[in-house]
Amino acid sequence: MSSGKTGSRALGLGFLSPCTNKSNRMKSCSENACEKTSFAFLRQELPVRLANIMKEINLLPDNLLRTPSVGLVQSWYMQSFQEILEFKDKNADDEKVTCDFTDAVIKVRNRHNDVIPTMAQGVVEYKETYGTDPVVSQNVQYFLDRFYMSRISIRMLLNQHTLLFGGKVEVNPAHPKQIGSIDPHCCVSEVIKDAYENARNLCDRYYMNSPELILEEFNAKEEGKPVTVVYVPSHLYHMVFELFKNAMRATMETHGDALDCPPVHAQIALGSEDLTVKVCDRGGGVPLRKIDRLFTYTYSTAPRPSTDGSRAAPLAGYGHGLPISRLYARYFQGDLKLYSLEGYGTDAVIYIRALSTESIERLPVYNKSAWKHYKTIHEADDWCVPSKEPKDMTTFRSF
Ligand SMILES: Nc1ncnc2c1ncn2[C@@H]1O[C@H](COP(=O)(O)OP(=O)(O)OP(=O)(O)O)[C@@H](O)[C@H]1O
Ligand SMILES: [Mg+2]
Repeated sequence: MSSGKTGSRALGLGFLSPCTNKSNRMKSCSENACEKTSFAFLRQELPVRLANIMKEINLLPDNLLRTPSVGLVQSWYMQSFQEILEFKDKNADDEKVTCDFTDAVIKVRNRHNDVIPTMAQGVVEYKETYGTDPVVSQNVQYFLDRFYMSRISIRMLLNQHTLLFGGKVEVNPAHPKQIGSIDPHCCVSEVIKDAYENARNLCDRYYMNSPELILEEFNAKEEGKPVTVVYVPSHLYHMVFELFKNAMRATMETHGDALDCPPVHAQIALGSEDLTVKVCDRGGGVPLRKIDRLFTYTYSTAPRPSTDGSRAAPLAGYGHGLPISRLYARYFQGDLKLYSLEGYGTDAVIYIRALSTESIERLPVYNKSAWKHYKTIHEADDWCVPSKEPKDMTTFRSF
């Protein structure tokens, strides 16, 4: 955990779900001591997280900062920063203050709903106008990873506060034990089946067909029992939904004409350290040379979805599915990797920490090292770049 005047405090899943007692969660604003603690913490932590990332936004290339979309995002951050800062010296014992703060948090959360498409629009506008310089592209990729990770973390705090203290606290009958957005007994196979069904609906709409799902579970901790984990189900859902959409699209593009397309195979394994979810398809795979590129924001081989709002959610096309899913995995110290067998198919693997005590937030910090990433002139590679010539080795016979 890092702390200090400008450093954020990285929190664990345990800290983020403090009210384990259901009746405590149901208490009104005025009775709940938890709300006061959450208020006292958030009024300090939110401005720190917002300020850290606002400093990095300022380091973006001028032409990118000047696009209307990035300007709009920047104005949202400034306004939210000011609104939260207004509570800095207010009395935490005053019920009205804590209730006003919860309203402010809801307002901030709603204001930032469209940050991802707006920021993506800014990057597209910039690339279309100024082209793609490899150094700028690398910096933008570095920035977006940190910016979206910061957003995930800020939304996690906002959601926990509003779900627990937002007034309309209702116990979800399907998940009665959920604490805010955290489920202490998140059933992994249920989330996977849910994500598969929704991805399949999209796939059916585009291709009039979709691959079947084969799901297997291996619980090394409690043999034969369903795998559960302390986690944020919506994060897990987001990751597997994106992987299923990709796997289905690749399968249909490769085997769309066949009567029977090969199924998508999902495996869940729980060990002592890792909870692993693997989604395998037989959609033809991707060459190793291209794997890193798939995690580049806006990289997509699908046509860009129309922006007139007339069509339903697309199966692909924004080029954000993989990089954002990897951030969700990394946010609680996990990871997401792709292994491909070109000519056959792809295995996408999500790693999650099996122990909630290990699931600590991974947060970007604005400091000299971060600053250097934007300002250092990139030096020459310290590995030999393979020459493209000569291709024909027979010309070397005389040696
Ligand atoms: N399982 C897969 N098999 C083959 N290619 C894949 C697979 N998964 C991803 N890709 C390739 O990686 C690209 C990027 O994937 P990503 O999910 O980030 O974006 P997208 O699917 O194009 O759009 P969206 O943001 O809507 O998900 C895809 O366009 C596709 O070319
Ligand atoms: Mg995708």
